Amino acid sequence: MDFADNTCLVTGGGAGIGLSTAEMMAGYGATIIIVDIDSKSSEKACLELRNRGHRAHAYSADVADAEQVRELFKKIRDDHGRLDIAVNNAGIGGAWNLTHEYDHASWHRVMQVNLDGVFFCMQEELKMMLDQEQGGVIVNVASMAGKLPQVKSSAYVASKHAVIGLTKTAAQEYARKNIRINAVCPCYTDTQMVSDLTQGSAVIEEKLIRAVPMGRLARPDEIAKAICFLASDQSSFSTGLCLSVDGGLAR
Ligand SMILES: NC(=O)c1ccc[n+]([C@@H]2O[C@H](COP(=O)([O-])OP(=O)(O)OC[C@H]3O[C@@H](n4cnc5c(N)ncnc54)[C@H](O)[C@@H]3O)[C@@H](O)[C@H]2O)c1
Repeated sequence: MDFADNTCLVTGGGAGIGLSTAEMMAGYGATIIIVDIDSKSSEKACLELRNRGHRAHAYSADVADAEQVRELFKKIRDDHGRLDIAVNNAGIGGAWNLTHEYDHASWHRVMQVNLDGVFFCMQEELKMMLDQEQGGVIVNVASMAGKLPQVKSSAYVASKHAVIGLTKTAAQEYARKNIRINAVCPCYTDTQMVSDLTQGSAVIEEKLIRAVPMGRLARPDEIAKAICFLASDQSSFSTGLCLSVDGGLAR
């Protein structure tokens, strides 16, 4: 894969799957833009990338806030003038509860970050990509929870099913505009999100793993590899694809 001359944006790139993706894309020659609500993590990630000789720029924004996203992309347009690849990865897990007891504040926040955030960013990314001759590529980070039910996670599951619908719809809308839009659907991956879920309990982790045919958590770089594939010319005839990277769970 070759991302030389490509400007690649990763939301939620300060940690976990997003950070691994930013590092991998930088390794393939990209100029990296990391956007994160946690400015310390995005700045630290970019500093480390620059220390390794890569080009990396940190921006702070809450993707769930339409005004912040508009401002963010105005800055990106001014600073870089182009956007070749966008990875909409920022996401949260939310509460862990049965549907009839699911907390409304958590429901709204999950929807705002996981669904509105992808939608707001896609709107701005599409505007930039429509304005440039070379088009662009968008990869949304959905989840196996976008294809399967997952008890006690109604908000998360609903948000990720919606991201898949949004991905497939936009893929058709821009298929003749030289813009490809795909999604990855990871299962349990060894990041802070899963640590928050297991709370350090080996019993809970074992329960999660038992459901996965390959019998282990994914590593963030295994998800990043699939994101890079969908972002690269290696997948040049794929759009609207929602690629499971899930140890055989959803297929
Ligand atoms: N870890 C898993 O098991 C797993 C499985 C399937 C899908 N996913 C998806 O992968 C994506 C990344 O998850 P992760 O496991 O790397 O999580 P993580 O918690 O390790 O990292 C998420 C990053 O997103 C940032 N972020 C959170 N809310 C934000 C907001 N409103 N605006 C901007 N940045 C924000 C965080 O600060 C953090 O840096 C998410 O969309 C998640 O739903 C994760």
